[in-house]
Amino acid sequence: MESERGSIAVDPRASGSPAATTELRAGIVGAGFIGRVHARSARLAGARLAGVAASSAESAREAAAEIGADRAFASAEELVVSDEVDVVHVCAPNNLHLPLARAALEAGKHVVCEKPVAFDAVGAGELARAAELAGRVATVPFVYRYYPTVREARARARAGALGELRLLYGGYLQDWLLAPSDDNWRVEPELGGPSRAFADIGSHWCDLVEFVSGQRIVSVSARTAVAHAERPRREARSFARGDGGGVPRAVETEDIAAVMFETDAGIVGSTVISQVSAGRKNQLWFELSGTEAAVGFDQEQPETLWVGRRSGSERVPRDFDTLAPEAAAYVTVPGGHPQGYRDCFDAFVGETYAAIAGEPAADGLPTLADGLRAVRITEAVLESARERVWVEVGEK
Ligand SMILES: NC(=O)c1ccc[n+]([C@@H]2O[C@H](COP(=O)([O-])OP(=O)(O)OC[C@H]3O[C@@H](n4cnc5c(N)ncnc54)[C@H](O)[C@@H]3O)[C@@H](O)[C@H]2O)c1
Repeated sequence: MESERGSIAVDPRASGSPAATTELRAGIVGAGFIGRVHARSARLAGARLAGVAASSAESAREAAAEIGADRAFASAEELVVSDEVDVVHVCAPNNLHLPLARAALEAGKHVVCEKPVAFDAVGAGELARAAELAGRVATVPFVYRYYPTVREARARARAGALGELRLLYGGYLQDWLLAPSDDNWRVEPELGGPSRAFADIGSHWCDLVEFVSGQRIVSVSARTAVAHAERPRREARSFARGDGGGVPRAVETEDIAAVMFETDAGIVGSTVISQVSAGRKNQLWFELSGTEAAVGFDQEQPETLWVGRRSGSERVPRDFDTLAPEAAAYVTVPGGHPQGYRDCFDAFVGETYAAIAGEPAADGLPTLADGLRAVRITEAVLESARERVWVEVGEK
C-alpha cells in the first residue's frame, strides 16, 4: 500500500527471501538513458534503490554513486536473483530482456521489463507465462499511455463521442540515426534483435493506438527500408554520433517501416515509423477519425489534445477541470505547468508498485501480455515486409 513517499508496504513473500522487509527494494539493471529514468521514478514511488548493475563492475560502481543506489552489483545475473532485491527493472540492451526477466521471475522477483521483451513471440510468450506461474507483478513501460491527454482521447473514444471509428493513422519519427556515421548497439541484430525501428518505437505506436481505440490490429501489410547500407561499428555504442572512427559494417535492420493495417473492427489504418527523419526527435503522433469527431495526439506537444469536428475544431488543454475524471486522475500540476515524459514514467512505476503492494492492477497498467502483443505485431510486420504479402497478427 502506498503511503508516505519512502515507504511502500510489500508482501514479505514477494522476493522469496527471508530478508524481505516492508520497504520495496528496487534493483536497476542497465544504467543508460532509461535505467536512470526508472531509478528516479522508483525512488519517487517510495522504493529504496537497493542496487544497480551495468555493463561492467566499474560502470555499475559509477552508476550507483550517481543515482544513489545502496550497492553496485558485479553483474546483472547476480542482481536479478539477489536476496537484497524485491523488484527488478530490466533496462539493459534488448538481448538481455528475456534471460534476465525470466531469471528474476524464477527467483520470485517482481519485474519491470523494457520493450521489446523478447526477440520473438515464442520467447515473449514464455516470459508472460513465467510471470503468471510465478504470480508476480510483471509490467512493461508502454508509458505513453500515461499522458492525461492520451487518457482523454481514450475516454472520448470509449464514451462514443467520436461516433464510429473509421480510420486510425499516424507515425513515430525520430532522427538520431539520420547520418550514416551514427551508431548504437540497437544496430547490431544480436543485441537489438531482428527488428530495429519497429521493435524500438513502432511497438509503442501500436500499443498506444490499440489502447486508445480499443481495437486490435489483426493484419498488416508492411514495407521496411534501410537508410544507409553501412554504418561504422563503434566500441561506445550508446548513441554514438557522426564523429568519425569505427569499422564499417553492413546494416541488417530497418531504419524505416511503412505499415498498413486492418483492425478487428474491420477498419483500416496506417503508420510510418522512422529513426532517420530530420528534425523529428520523438514525434509519436496518432489520429483517430470517427463519424462524429476525431482526436489527435502528438507526444512532442502533449499538453493539448486536438479534437476535430466539421463544425470547428479545438485544442483541449490538459488541466484538472477540462478532462474526463479518468484522464484528470493523471494530472499532477495545474495547466500551464507542463507535464511530460518522466511524469508518465512516475505514474507507470507508481501503479506497478501499487500492484506489488497488493492493490488491484490499475486500468491500463501495461504487462508482459502487452509486451508479447507488441512482439507479435513486430513479427507480422517483418514477415509482411519480407514476403510482400498481408500477414495476420498471431494470437497464439
Ligand atoms: N519505454 C521507453 O519509453 C523506453 C525508452 C528508451 C529505451 N527503452 C528501452 O530500454 C532499453 C535500454 O535503452 P537505453 O536507451 O537506456 O540504452 P542505453 O544504451 O542508454 O543504456 C543501456 C545500458 O545497458 C547497460 N548494459 C550493457 N550490457 C549490460 C549487461 N550485460 N548488464 C547490465 N547492463 C548492461 C549499458 O552499460 C548501458 O548503460 C532498451 O531495451 C530500450 O528499448 C525504453
